[in-house]
Amino acid sequence: MEQRLIYLDNAATGFPKPQKVIEEMQEFMMYSGGNAGRGSHVLAMRAAEKVFECRNKLAQLFDAEGVEQVCFTLNTTHGLNMCIKGLLKRGDHVLISDMEHNAVYRPIYKLHAQGVVDYDIFPSMVGDSKRNATRICEGIAKLVRRNTRMLVCSGTSNISSMTMPLAEIGRLCRRLGILFVVDGAQCAGHTPISMKNMHIDALCVPGHKGLLGPQGCGAVILGKGITAQTLMEGGNGVDSLEGAMSYGSPERYEAGTLPAPAIVGLSAGLDTLSSIGLDKIEAHEKRLFRRARERLTLLEGVKIYTPQYEGSVLLFNVAGRGAEETARTLSDKGICVRGGYHCSALGHRTLGTADTGAVRASFGPFNSSKDVDAFCDAVGEMI
Ligand code: ALA
Repeated sequence: MEQRLIYLDNAATGFPKPQKVIEEMQEFMMYSGGNAGRGSHVLAMRAAEKVFECRNKLAQLFDAEGVEQVCFTLNTTHGLNMCIKGLLKRGDHVLISDMEHNAVYRPIYKLHAQGVVDYDIFPSMVGDSKRNATRICEGIAKLVRRNTRMLVCSGTSNISSMTMPLAEIGRLCRRLGILFVVDGAQCAGHTPISMKNMHIDALCVPGHKGLLGPQGCGAVILGKGITAQTLMEGGNGVDSLEGAMSYGSPERYEAGTLPAPAIVGLSAGLDTLSSIGLDKIEAHEKRLFRRARERLTLLEGVKIYTPQYEGSVLLFNVAGRGAEETARTLSDKGICVRGGYHCSALGHRTLGTADTGAVRASFGPFNSSKDVDAFCDAVGEMI
């Protein structure tokens, strides 16, 4: 019989998927599988309705300006590229935090290498939890230039549970006339986000992590009045005789067939999320984090990084062992965690783990305290 696996890699992708997600996707593929926005026959219309439902749920969840502001993408990286490359112009200056994932860092690094934009990195861990927001904003203000056009940062890093003070950063950006783009890969479905209250101009989210959907779709939710250059052009079912892409959102950003089965799965994931309740999920993940922190702290040779920030991500190392080796040993014991650099060059440099990498355990709504105990026991046995 296969060993029972304990999945603690929810920051890479949420698992298991809710049963409702699997059932709705199957039902869609068996009975409703037309191409949304392509034709007016009954199956195309059924698919279009399903896609609209999901857009609407995302607009509600993130307090967006309107349902038409929700544009489907392949994943968060696709969305971030769409915003970064579609909104920045030659000569612009950009600010990013020192905890950014490569999905933010690499597109900006490339634009910088091509001589298109200049960028600066602001520090994110600059005070205790009470003063961090003020200090982060002071750090940002010091770096702002006359040509600063955009600030991009993650809501929560993928290697630390620290959440960025989005409301304070958004307020500052609005006051300074800077576009505020948020990488929601690790905070969507873990903590509440209001685009209006946080003055977010573009929010990029994955469907398959905290929102409990399958891999294959994500979304960019644009703020009021934001129009970007398109990253891709092609058919979208509207203005078909024109050479130029229409100006209307969301079709302008959705060239080619949408991944409707994944969108239907995401819609079911969003239903599951709201039936459990975001506040309950957030509290549950923090409880699991505290339990793991308490138990790992008792083990000699285990170092936890940024333990003061409680949330779904716990990063650690075991003395004398490489991060990949620790992750592999835990995998042999049936525990799924991710070791290495987690595509976060900046984050690992900031945490001082660029030489070693680290091991990440990331919790989700379907983990239990028993899972955490089994994980901590396995680390203990290893030592
Ligand atoms: N970006 C995802 C992670 O952190 C895949 O693992």
